[in-house]
Amino acid sequence: MINIVLFGVPGCGKGTQAALLKARYGIEHVSTGEVIREHIRRGTELGRAVQASIERGELAPDEVVISMIADYVASHRDARGCIFDGFPRTEPQAKAFDRILAENGLQVDLMIDIEVAEEEVVRRILLRGKESGRADDASEEVIRQRLAVYHAQTAVVAEHYAACGRYTAIDGHGTIEEVFARISALVDGLGQ
Ligand code: AP5
Ligand code: MG
Repeated sequence: MINIVLFGVPGCGKGTQAALLKARYGIEHVSTGEVIREHIRRGTELGRAVQASIERGELAPDEVVISMIADYVASHRDARGCIFDGFPRTEPQAKAFDRILAENGLQVDLMIDIEVAEEEVVRRILLRGKESGRADDASEEVIRQRLAVYHAQTAVVAEHYAACGRYTAIDGHGTIEEVFARISALVDGLGQ
């Protein structure tokens, strides 16, 4: 099973590229942000507990997302591969993820960092926010907060995977198809 982490600033294209990868390679896709938003929509206890911080552009607690991913990995052992979109997002999440995967005889095969300039992602998210209904897309202030959280807590995760030679950055500018061609070339290189 091939495990790919899609990484990068909010709005860099993780969800868009994950959907294309899923269609081309027949691998699974999980977005912790989507799972959390689904809890909020359903009004679950978890959703109610994290809603305010997500809407301010802050992260959910590590233990919440780690347990989500542990359940996901356990229930997808038979998958051809999985794309993890937006996870891990902190150093403790990365350490826990490595442990969870190792317990299942797995590892992160490649983290792909989709690099996009901040002004471009702010533009993309504001555009999407007009119709996405995502509370964290609605104002530039919250988008800037998400970017600040990325720099303070998430960027460091790249070093974790770079240290073991499993990190690659690609240029996330250009059309969706151009970015997908860059990512597909990397995935093809993994032998998928
Ligand atoms: P999450 O849902 O992961 O949001 P995010 O990382 O902020 O990123 P987005 O989903 O906004 O963007 P994306 O990179 O998927 O880009 P997309 O393809 O949509 O997380 C939301 C929140 O949940 C977090 O802030 C946190 O609170 C919580 N959370 C999630 N994971 C967590 C974790 N592990 N730990 C703790 N808390 C967690 O593209 C964006 C837009 O641009 C779209 O409209 C798209 O159509 C467009 N677009 C894409 N590519 C291109 C292109 N090449 N050219 C032009 N437009 C493009
Ligand atoms: Mg997304």
